[in-house]
Amino acid sequence: MSDIAVSLQQLTLAYDNTIAVPQLDLDIHRGELISLLGPSGCGKTTTMRAIAGLMAPRDGKIIIDGDDVTQVPANKREVGLVFQSYALFPHLSGFENVAFGLRLKKTPAAELTQRVEAGLQLVGMGHLADRKPAELSGGQQQRLSLARSLVMKPKVLLLDEPLSNLDARLRLDMRTELQRLQRQTGITMVFVTHDQSEALALSDRIVLMKHGRIEQIGSPEALYNQPQTTFAADFVGYENIFAVAAPSSTHSGSIIHNDHGNLELDYTVAAKHIAWRPGGVIVGKGPHTGTIAAVAFAGNQREYVIDSGAGPVKTEVDASIPAATIGDKINFDLPLSTARIITATS
Ligand SMILES: Nc1ncnc2c1ncn2[C@@H]1O[C@H](COP(=O)(O)OP(=O)(O)O)[C@@H](O)[C@H]1O
Ligand SMILES: [Mg+2]
Repeated sequence: MSDIAVSLQQLTLAYDNTIAVPQLDLDIHRGELISLLGPSGCGKTTTMRAIAGLMAPRDGKIIIDGDDVTQVPANKREVGLVFQSYALFPHLSGFENVAFGLRLKKTPAAELTQRVEAGLQLVGMGHLADRKPAELSGGQQQRLSLARSLVMKPKVLLLDEPLSNLDARLRLDMRTELQRLQRQTGITMVFVTHDQSEALALSDRIVLMKHGRIEQIGSPEALYNQPQTTFAADFVGYENIFAVAAPSSTHSGSIIHNDHGNLELDYTVAAKHIAWRPGGVIVGKGPHTGTIAAVAFAGNQREYVIDSGAGPVKTEVDASIPAATIGDKINFDLPLSTARIITATS
């Protein structure tokens, strides 16, 4: 058997006249947890619906486990789908909700009971099997909907922003839980999110999407540390992105600029763009001066926006240092050591 669970080949997805996803090529490996990450409207849900068979492609192919399923109806694809809304049957118990698909497939009673109980155990819901959805918390309902998909032993499980209805604390718990479920079951999972920290935390690989195209694909570490484009850099927190101008006759270092103006660096970079995370900017010393335009307390850090020759520079400093005040003049540095050099032209 090949290592590829799902292969999207030149997949074009459209609504009437709008092409949502043009000619997408993507191989999803067996047993991996891969995330589709990107801003709202970039085509994540559309891609999931196509894999599930809920939307016919305009062009291209979908291969699952080596079989071309492009023309195969949704109920014959053995693909599981979990949404942010749990879509449980309100009048059925937890057990019966999880059993639903197995009953449709006329699974023998003993096997059905065994599989449902195992599924409920897997998501930590064994003790709540008799409750109806209204008697369960949002997190518990989401666990049930996960179990309902997992008991069907899908070839691939699609999870479309499954955590976005949960509160912040529960989201963190469910992240860990999803990772554990994936390791334990070995089921190939495609996880959709617009939240970069969620994708970074739980994925084997991340597909960063922009306007229906793949902007960058790789491990969380690679995306976080080596974003290849300004879009990718911005998405993983390089909030200060500058264009690099051609060297001038009056300054020996590179000049960076944006719509607001210029800053002269004391070193040279050969790139289209250069970027810093707020934490990569040195505050309180350095060759550049600016004015504090905003101060925000953020727990361990204090975030300053510094108005500079090249517009606002977002910075963060240790919150144990006494706070500066809006209007204060302050020095800062944009060091090469913390910069991300972006050579891509788009
Ligand atoms: N039912 C629809 N009819 C027309 N256009 C749609 C429909 N659903 C989504 N779109 C468009 O397709 C693009 C991708 O949408 P979607 O896949 O839902 O994005 P995401 O899930 O990444 O937020 C968007 O431009 C969106 O406006
Ligand atoms: Mg969506």
